[in-house]
Amino acid sequence: MKVLVTGANGYVGAQICRYLSQQGFRVSGLCYPQIPDNKDWQSGFEELFMCDVRDTEELKKIAERQFEAIVHLVSLDHHQSNGEPAFVSSVNVTPTWNLLDIFSKNGLKKFLYFSTIHVYGKNLNGVITEDYPINCANPYALTHYLSENICRYYGQNSDVSCVVARLSNSYGPPVFPDNNCWWLVVNDLCRSAVKDKKIVLQSDGSPLRDFIHGRDVCQAVKILLEKGENNMTYHISSGNIYSILELAEKVQAVYFQRTKEEISITCHCGLDLQSPQKARYKIDNSALKTLGFEPEYTLEKGIKMLIKNVLQ
Ligand SMILES: NC(=O)c1ccc[n+]([C@@H]2O[C@H](COP(=O)([O-])OP(=O)(O)OC[C@H]3O[C@@H](n4cnc5c(N)ncnc54)[C@H](O)[C@@H]3O)[C@@H](O)[C@H]2O)c1
Repeated sequence: MKVLVTGANGYVGAQICRYLSQQGFRVSGLCYPQIPDNKDWQSGFEELFMCDVRDTEELKKIAERQFEAIVHLVSLDHHQSNGEPAFVSSVNVTPTWNLLDIFSKNGLKKFLYFSTIHVYGKNLNGVITEDYPINCANPYALTHYLSENICRYYGQNSDVSCVVARLSNSYGPPVFPDNNCWWLVVNDLCRSAVKDKKIVLQSDGSPLRDFIHGRDVCQAVKILLEKGENNMTYHISSGNIYSILELAEKVQAVYFQRTKEEISITCHCGLDLQSPQKARYKIDNSALKTLGFEPEYTLEKGIKMLIKNVLQ
């Protein structure tokens, strides 16, 4: 399958491109603001384009290559998405429409859009399936939901099969050291353990999260490209929930196993560390599992590999 990945140089994109290429896909990548200077990574691509996704003339030229599928990963992050609405939507929303408009006229068959579980808001309860009520609580979630709706429109009104993936919280070593990923909580805690010899939490440790390793995200993308159904939404999640304190304790234990050094866990704000105060919810991934997805990384396995990576 001939695939174009947007956001190819990003944290998730760089891993997906490498994986899809290893799996025999014909991968091209759209990078911005530059193409990473890494010959090994570059060798997995048919073509690499340096392109601002807001530049429709450039997109039209790229579309002449006739891609069968697009994996669309361009978005500003949570903080950047709080900027001016005109700018934020010009990156997070309008390109989804432009890509579908332009590439659907050039043979596109499948469009895989990366969204987020943030579209459900904060107060999650019980089993969260893909039809759980939407409750966007910030511009990052809102713009992802707007793009999801553009996909739905094209899924209904064009020949392109549009699939939405709502990702939970990915983690794991980046392909490039400058990838925007060290603030992600698992990555942050593993790096603090190794570099600072302590873990300082930004909260009291009680918030609950679903963490999924980058390699499992890659497996999910392959499955969704091959088997994802038109106008279906799929969670890419591990299906397991941990509190931030439980995560920190796992990082602490793995670090001790490896180095025999004890490290402390404290709270940045001086609060007492807390166990979860709310009932555990679950980001249900059974829709993806029915297509053959099975996560390979437990949180312990992922932390072990990440700590090994940071120690190197
Ligand atoms: N990482 C996670 O855990 C996570 C969780 C949920 C959803 N997501 C979503 O997955 C997608 C990928 O996330 P990521 O973690 O790789 O983020 P990232 O910030 O590393 O990647 C975003 C990519 O968009 C590119 N980009 C930004 N502006 C651009 C422009 N004007 N033109 C072209 N490219 C531009 C960046 O260069 C980068 O390659 C995003 O949509 C993100 O919201 C990620």
